[in-house]
Amino acid sequence: MYARLIGTGSYLPGNPVTNDDLAARGIDTNDEWIVTRTGIRSRHLAAPGTTSSELGLIAAQRALEMSGVSAADLDLIIVATSTPDFIFPSTACLIQANLGNKGAAAFDVQAVCAGFTYALGIAEKFIRSGSHKRALVIGAEVFSRILDWNDRGTCVLFGDGAGAIVLEASDKPGVLATAMHADGSQNGILNVPGQICGGQVTGDPFLRMDGPSVFKFAVRVLADIAEEVCQIAGIQTTDVDWLIPHQANIRIIEATGKKLGVDRNKVIVTVDRHGNTSAASVPLALDEAVRDGRIQRGQKVLVEGVGGGFTWGAALLEF
Ligand code: UT7
Repeated sequence: MYARLIGTGSYLPGNPVTNDDLAARGIDTNDEWIVTRTGIRSRHLAAPGTTSSELGLIAAQRALEMSGVSAADLDLIIVATSTPDFIFPSTACLIQANLGNKGAAAFDVQAVCAGFTYALGIAEKFIRSGSHKRALVIGAEVFSRILDWNDRGTCVLFGDGAGAIVLEASDKPGVLATAMHADGSQNGILNVPGQICGGQVTGDPFLRMDGPSVFKFAVRVLADIAEEVCQIAGIQTTDVDWLIPHQANIRIIEATGKKLGVDRNKVIVTVDRHGNTSAASVPLALDEAVRDGRIQRGQKVLVEGVGGGFTWGAALLEF
């Protein structure tokens, strides 16, 4: 029994916001710095009041439409997000209600930018165990809500959006291998170290990052985990048809591809137009490449993420 991917969908809110637009809003930055250091040219930012569940709902509806599965037939809904609508109920339960599904197991996964790969790995294990048959896996984020717009070292890097996939039990190959890891000792290099306590925000409720440390860590673990899932599946990284790394920085993406010996034109890149959308980045890029026809039936696609925690995860998919 395999978990097979039968549909993808995504959603980006509003119009692209360019680097020049950010500078025009008073951020002490410029297009040349952002493009040279990160490859980001624009990102989408949700309108005030728009939530992760709203973005995730549209991505989910598009994935369900492609898969031909009705919401009522889902028995598992997992949402990867670090920017949930509420402390509780989970974003997954909110999306479930708006899809009109009753009875599916629904919960959120918190593994920041590796969240989608964690959620995919969990869903795959539920399906392979035989306990569940049709899973909706969503990555949805409004990172613009946790950015310090006075910190030019972080606020220019992120964007909002959502991506989703539908997985179904099948006897044909689908998800060939998954892996997930964490190293909590690195919790200090990327975090939002705030909380709500007694009705007040305590600590620091904005995203903080030691950029160079994150950069080095990301390249190392993205290469390691890609090797790991290929080894589980018994293939070489060079056998992969498409590599979809977490879209945080073009230099991290290129360094990872180079380390793995994967040709530059087999790497899907959206960071230039989406920025870093955290848990949404991988399913957004996957949906783009499925819909524009780059990803074809029978091909092998390696998706991987890395983020705060530190967490990292990967999955090797056969289409
Ligand atoms: O999901 C994981 C999320 N995070 C990441 O993937 C980020 C990984 N790290 C990175 O991508 C890079 O470390 C950054 C893009 C964040 C930074 O690049 P860097 O080459 O490590 O630059 P830096 O932090 O060393 O900063 C260099 C300079 C500083 O100026 P001084 O002190 O050298 O005069 C910064 O103040 O660049 C300045 N700077 C900016 N200048 C214009 C920082 N942010 C900006 C900005 N615009 N937005």
